[in-house]
Amino acid sequence: MDIPAFQTVGGGFSFAELIAPQDVTAFFEGVHRKRPLHIPGNADKFAFSMSWELLDGMLDQSAIWTPHTLQLVLNKVTLRPEQYTYQGVGRDGRPTLLVDFARMRAAVDRGSTILLSDCNTLTPGIKAICEALGREPGGKVQANLYCSWAGHQAFDVHYDVGDVFVTQIHGEKIWRIYQQAVKDPVRHPLFMDTNVHREKMGVLSAEIVMRPGDMLYIPGGFCHEAMTEHGASIHITYEMKAMTGMDVIPLLLERAVRDEVMRAPLPHPSARDGKALEEQLMRIAGRMREMLREPAARAYIEAQMRDFPHPTQGIKLPDDSGKS
Ligand SMILES: [Fe+2]
Repeated sequence: MDIPAFQTVGGGFSFAELIAPQDVTAFFEGVHRKRPLHIPGNADKFAFSMSWELLDGMLDQSAIWTPHTLQLVLNKVTLRPEQYTYQGVGRDGRPTLLVDFARMRAAVDRGSTILLSDCNTLTPGIKAICEALGREPGGKVQANLYCSWAGHQAFDVHYDVGDVFVTQIHGEKIWRIYQQAVKDPVRHPLFMDTNVHREKMGVLSAEIVMRPGDMLYIPGGFCHEAMTEHGASIHITYEMKAMTGMDVIPLLLERAVRDEVMRAPLPHPSARDGKALEEQLMRIAGRMREMLREPAARAYIEAQMRDFPHPTQGIKLPDDSGKS
C-alpha cells in the first residue's frame, strides 16, 4: 500500500527562503506594511507544506473537523453547520458536531469551497512556515487552507485585518487587488463589516494569476478578491497578528493598581469650574507616560512580545536528545 509519508522539515526554514528570490531587506524597506507584492516561484516551492495526498490525509483525521475548523462556502454564502455535520461525540467524550463527509462531498460537488481554519500544526511543512513567519516579521500566525473549484467565488471583496502571506499549492487562482481601505485595521466590529469594505475598496490596482509555487503578500486593510477560473485550486493563507499599542493598555492597567494618582477618585466635573478634573487628567497622562518609561515596563513589554507567537516547542520521542 502506498501511504504518503509526512515529510519532516528542518527547523532552519527561514523567512528568506519563503519570500525568495525577493530580498529580505528590500522587502522590509519597501513592501512590508506598505503595498501588496506577488513573488512568482518554482511550481514545487511549497509542495513540502501541502498536496492532495496531505490534504486527504488531514481530512481523514475526521475527529478534528467540526463546523468551526471546516467550513463550506458556496457563492459567497457559508453553509450552515446542519447542512454538513451530525451530532457526534468528540475526542474529549463530549457531544459535538462532526463533519458528515458524504454530505460534505455532495456540497463540494456543487462547487463549495472547503475552508480549513487554523491548520498551523497539521503538516510539518505548514508548521515550519508558521514558525518562520513567527520569527520574522514576528507575531501570531494563523494558517487557513482553501480548496476551491472553477466558476464559484467563495468570498466577496474584503480586507483582512492582518498582513497575509498567500502560498499557491495547486491550480491557478486569480486575485484582484484594490486600494487600502484602512490603515492597520484590528479585529473589532468597527472594521469587520464587509459592506463597508466594498464601499472603500477603491479602484483595481492589480490582477494577479497565482500559480503553484507563487506567493502573494497583502498588507492588512488592502481590499481583494480571489476566484478560480478553471480546474481546482489549493492555497494557504498565513495571516499575521502583531502586537500593537492597544496591547500596552492591559500592562498600564496592571501597573495603575499600584499608583496613588491612578487610584485617586476623579474630581466632580463641576469642581473649580471643571479645572480640577482637567488638572487630574493631565496628572494621569503624566503618570502613564512615566510608567511606560520605567525599565520594568519596557522589559515586560519585550517579554510579552517574545511570548506573543503561538508556542512552537514540539517533542522528540523517545527522548529529546535525538538518541533512539
Ligand atoms: Fe482575504
